[in-house]
Amino acid sequence: MNDFSPRVAVIGLGYVGLPLALALARHFETHGVDVDKGRIAELRTGHDRTGEIEEPALTASPITLHEGVESCPPCDFYIVTVPTPIDGENRPDLDLVVRASRSVGAVLAGAAAEDRRPVVVYESTVYPGVTEDICAPVLEEVSGLICGKDFFLAYSPERINPGDREHTVDKITKVVSGQTPEVLDDVSALYGAVTTGGVFRASSIKVAEAAKVIENAQRDINIAFMNEIAQIFSRIGISTWDVLAAAGTKWNFLPFTPGLVGGHCIGIDPYYLAHRARELGIEPNVITAGRGINDSMAEWVAGELHTARGGKGGSALVLGLTFKENIPDLRNSKVADLAAALGKLGHSVTIHDPMADPGEARHEYGVELAAELPAGPFDLVLLAVPHGDYLALGLDALRARLAPGGTLADLKGVFGGRADWSL
Ligand SMILES: NC(=O)c1ccc[n+]([C@@H]2O[C@H](COP(=O)([O-])OP(=O)(O)OC[C@H]3O[C@@H](n4cnc5c(N)ncnc54)[C@H](O)[C@@H]3O)[C@@H](O)[C@H]2O)c1
Repeated sequence: MNDFSPRVAVIGLGYVGLPLALALARHFETHGVDVDKGRIAELRTGHDRTGEIEEPALTASPITLHEGVESCPPCDFYIVTVPTPIDGENRPDLDLVVRASRSVGAVLAGAAAEDRRPVVVYESTVYPGVTEDICAPVLEEVSGLICGKDFFLAYSPERINPGDREHTVDKITKVVSGQTPEVLDDVSALYGAVTTGGVFRASSIKVAEAAKVIENAQRDINIAFMNEIAQIFSRIGISTWDVLAAAGTKWNFLPFTPGLVGGHCIGIDPYYLAHRARELGIEPNVITAGRGINDSMAEWVAGELHTARGGKGGSALVLGLTFKENIPDLRNSKVADLAAALGKLGHSVTIHDPMADPGEARHEYGVELAAELPAGPFDLVLLAVPHGDYLALGLDALRARLAPGGTLADLKGVFGGRADWSL
């Protein structure tokens, strides 16, 4: 790597891995790997189902796509960007990271034989210690090599925000860390080439892992506070949005808002930190209190809407199912919980979402999405996820779908107090 023209493999081409791999491919020989054959086939035709990359950018990229890392030529960097979910008991599920490590471990000897001294960089969100204490032994066991001598470790957390076209991987500051000062230099050079936002050299791999996990835990806790005050102010009978507008005039008031916390980052990552805390004998009260409030918010909103309907069931149209606006990502959608809670309270719920994949909605939640936006009339219309399509339609078009005496609910307050109900 003397002239720094490394060969790179990115393992896991999802929301994080694909944009990163394409950014790297603009500067270096890059190989993109995904075990989902359907995903690779789609990408080869220029289709990115996550909606992050447009077809022309995908088809023009010099990246080489693979269904397994074993078909990549020996690389200098193996960057792991596979999911890190939780299990049914909210504990870290590291199975996919371990599997990816196994597949990388199996090719490390080939890379080391070419005198590449390969670096395995983890980008998946984990708790401090996973890279060195869980992944490294797997890499060593499968490769038969010695970590820190034959191959090296690095960690660089990802900060992308799906659907956000401003804070993209080529513009944000990238936190990097490496097992040795030389590895840190190489990893800094690698990421420094792809981002105009610069790199931040963390003092250790555990520090970089910890930084990522607290970025999301901090958001989760702050949103939980907003959700708690929304519940208090609802009982008092004042608008949370009005209160936030007033408090927001103070120079150091933080601009968080209430809402459902779904997806696979803010609602998941705090459990990783909580798990590590418990392993260390510390009960993470603040983290778990935040998680508890945010996880119960869908049910609380359903109860409020039911009360707004006079405690009677009726027909309800829920607009939006994805975990946030303008993206197709359905994972850990709290709108699904909200719709289910409305159903339990006696409402017959129709769900529409122009961004979501109907097959995935059926598979994940047993929900049959309405093919077209229904005309109604409905007793309750809830704008749950303010996709651009709904905002373009406007408040009057949504109100036109109400039965006489119906309730228009605007979960995220996007219509500025003009709906009948909002958080
Ligand atoms: N999506 C985000 O906004 C975001 C932001 C920052 C960090 N992260 C973190 O990044 C990681 C990846 O998240 P994501 O949203 O990109 O996931 P994703 O589900 O969109 O994509 C992951 C991809 O990895 C593939 N994969 C799984 N196991 C594999 C293996 N063994 N080998 C090769 N490919 C494999 C899957 O098929 C999938 O295409 C997670 O740890 C997540 O917490 C996500």
